[in-house]
Amino acid sequence: MVTIAPSVLSADYLRLGEHAREAEAAGAGSLQVDIMDGRFVPNLTFGPGIVAALRSAVKIRLDVHLMIVEPEKFLKDFADALRDASGQAGATCIIVHQEATDHIHMALQTLRGLGVEAGVCLNPGTPLSAIEEVLDLADMIQIMTVNPGWGGQPFIRSQLDKIRRLRWMLDERGLNTAIAVDGGIDTTTAPLVVDAGATVLVAGSSVFNNKASVADNITALKASFAQKA
Ligand code: DX5
Repeated sequence: MVTIAPSVLSADYLRLGEHAREAEAAGAGSLQVDIMDGRFVPNLTFGPGIVAALRSAVKIRLDVHLMIVEPEKFLKDFADALRDASGQAGATCIIVHQEATDHIHMALQTLRGLGVEAGVCLNPGTPLSAIEEVLDLADMIQIMTVNPGWGGQPFIRSQLDKIRRLRWMLDERGLNTAIAVDGGIDTTTAPLVVDAGATVLVAGSSVFNNKASVADNITALKASFAQKA
């Protein structure tokens, strides 16, 4: 099944909870929260507090995308920000960049140990070989189809072949790991990435914009790949 993961980077920060609930009501499979530190990427965004607030606003899975250096320092903080009164982290995936740590194997093991789903993300210039040894430790593998830092950037078409090769690598190992794609996903590029094997479409500016409502934008995205999924 293919799901939409709206990226709150493009949401209206004055109405973040409302926008999150609108996306949930419109059938989003998860929300992606872009954490940026101004070092791994040249932009600065949210911290654990915003993640905790969004956790209280919606029930759907939160995908916390760590675009930060030394992610190990914050894995527990973000996992704790997602815990409810019973101490459960709920439906959560924390995604670390392979490029941001010397120990991606340990980072993924740590995430699973914290009781959250473990995600790993690759920038457009990073080959799949960089995660070949940890495919079985990831619950989701995210392929950037823009260079990370901002919403509204153009889709990098060369990543389509990478998504196809990743699907083949996972199938060959009998792994049904989710493949997320992130950046420049709209009604034109969505069918292309689904055709290549993507199962989670991260979409920011094509969902949160002033052209149409969140619900209409999500409906249009789903319709664009309905024949492909
Ligand atoms: C970019 C972020 C993406 C971004 C996607 O660094 O990781 O999630 O918000 O935005 P669009 O969908 O507008 O390209």
